[in-house]
Amino acid sequence: MSSQLEKVKELIALRDQARLGGGEKRIESQHKKGKYTARERIAMLLDEGSFEEIDMFVKHRCTNFGIDKESFLGDGIVTGSGTIEGRLVYVYAQDFTVFGGSLSEMLASKICKIMDQAMKVGVPVIGLNDSGGARIQEGVNALAGYAEIFQRNILASGVIPQISGIFGPCAGGSVYSPALTDFNIMTKGTSYMFLTGPKVVKTVTGEDVTQEQLGGATVHATKSGVAHFAVDTEEEGLNLIRKLISFMPQNNMEEAPQLICSDPIDRLESSLNDIIPDSPNKSYDMYEVIGAIVDNGEFLEVHRDYAQNIITGFARFNGISVGIVANQPKVMAGCLDSNASRKAARFVRFCDAFNIPLVTLVDVPGFLPGTGQEYNGVILHGAKLLYAYGEATVPKVTVTLRKSYGGAYCVMSSKHLRGDVNYAWPTAEIAVMGPAGAVEIIFAKEVASAEDPKAAAAQKEEEYRKAFANPYNAARYGYIDDVIEPRNTRFRIIRALQQLQTKKLTNPAKKHDNLPL
Ligand code: HXC
Repeated sequence: MSSQLEKVKELIALRDQARLGGGEKRIESQHKKGKYTARERIAMLLDEGSFEEIDMFVKHRCTNFGIDKESFLGDGIVTGSGTIEGRLVYVYAQDFTVFGGSLSEMLASKICKIMDQAMKVGVPVIGLNDSGGARIQEGVNALAGYAEIFQRNILASGVIPQISGIFGPCAGGSVYSPALTDFNIMTKGTSYMFLTGPKVVKTVTGEDVTQEQLGGATVHATKSGVAHFAVDTEEEGLNLIRKLISFMPQNNMEEAPQLICSDPIDRLESSLNDIIPDSPNKSYDMYEVIGAIVDNGEFLEVHRDYAQNIITGFARFNGISVGIVANQPKVMAGCLDSNASRKAARFVRFCDAFNIPLVTLVDVPGFLPGTGQEYNGVILHGAKLLYAYGEATVPKVTVTLRKSYGGAYCVMSSKHLRGDVNYAWPTAEIAVMGPAGAVEIIFAKEVASAEDPKAAAAQKEEEYRKAFANPYNAARYGYIDDVIEPRNTRFRIIRALQQLQTKKLTNPAKKHDNLPL
């Protein structure tokens, strides 16, 4: 055999060795835990055969605690690029079979290389996390590695989409990289995220909690909002990432791909002409409205289980990718509160950063009152949503279906926050407050001194309703561009979006904003 052939053989052997990560036993143990390996995950995420791996021969260079006697090709992470539906992405996947996927100086440098490359090329980065945190033997070099990654997450934010899959442990400071990215997907039962584990919690607070109770997927998808999606299996999570990417552009200088639409753009939805209940106190399901108007009824909901009084997610109109924000009358009557405001603000800002038009469906009786909300800072959180809509320069189409009262009217993509096209259904009620509240304040004396106060209040409420609880007052001042037949909503939104495709609007130059955090 020629020496060249021998060298090729050696290369092939080294590659095979690298592909084994921490070895067959540890791979088996990973499978027993119901988890895939880093390479299996990448294979499922990317188009078949598209993965180009780099830095397969990287090894750690730590000598503390005799760790130099044990090293693995690749050093606990698989990095490279590939395609999703033919579009380039950069990807890294932590390999739990090597030192528990723990982060070393060299492992961090592999992630940083991927991120730098993705920024140069202008394509999304997808990180698949499954790691025991900082590699303890490496000390401050591991911490430095984390900080280098965080810095890149920050600079990449709003420039290229960043998506994190959490498919195993993610604890300590390592949670901050996913937190800085745009979307987090967690698997139920096999992933968790927390700053300190159950043992430290017990020592410091005396609280007894399991890993799942402290930072499992369900907790983060329903209570904290850290996870945008909680999925049952890794396959589901990886498919979801592919779907999510399809709604986004490659970077902030591009538009999301427009797909060919098979759903007729002038499809009338007669059911919408009869969906609003006669009683203003009765609810209906906003999902029915969304399903009826978007292309093929397809809606990818973000934060489905968190702050369900507002709905956020991606859909398409005539193949154009949009972000939908909609009040949900079925939950807390669609009131805005702190969590709903934060959830929607973050979503609006993502869409604006990546040139994705916003379609807002309004049915909101106002902000939730009370000490619970005030002590929790609802003023600041509500201001976040206000800020997000007000700074957004993407096309903004708003449809008011029913209630739009008080501050919530201003916030929900109103004309005054540079809403481009604002429609209302004939059932819209746009006013400072609802009839009952208004009568209590402005007709208090009259009602109290009436022979039959109840009947007097009812009559005043009816007068108020006639005068204000309609869309025509707002339309009279041009705050509503048109009052539309509900069944035409899909067609009117599509026309508005087509009209706005060449919209150009820039905000004043500044170093950065001072969003009310
Ligand atoms: C070095 C580690 C490691 C770590 C795990 N391993 N975590 N090696 N540094 N942080 C190694 C183990 O020694 C073991 O090696 C292999 O990975 C698998 O670990 P097991 O414990 O056998 O697995 P399992 O029972 O599934 O438990 C997983 C685990 C546990 C819950 C993640 O390993 C664990 O608690 N690790 C420590 C977590 C931690 O406290 N990390 C530091 C967080 S602080 P072998 O050779 O047996 O396969 C932090 C600060 C970051 O990250 C700050 C950034 C700003």
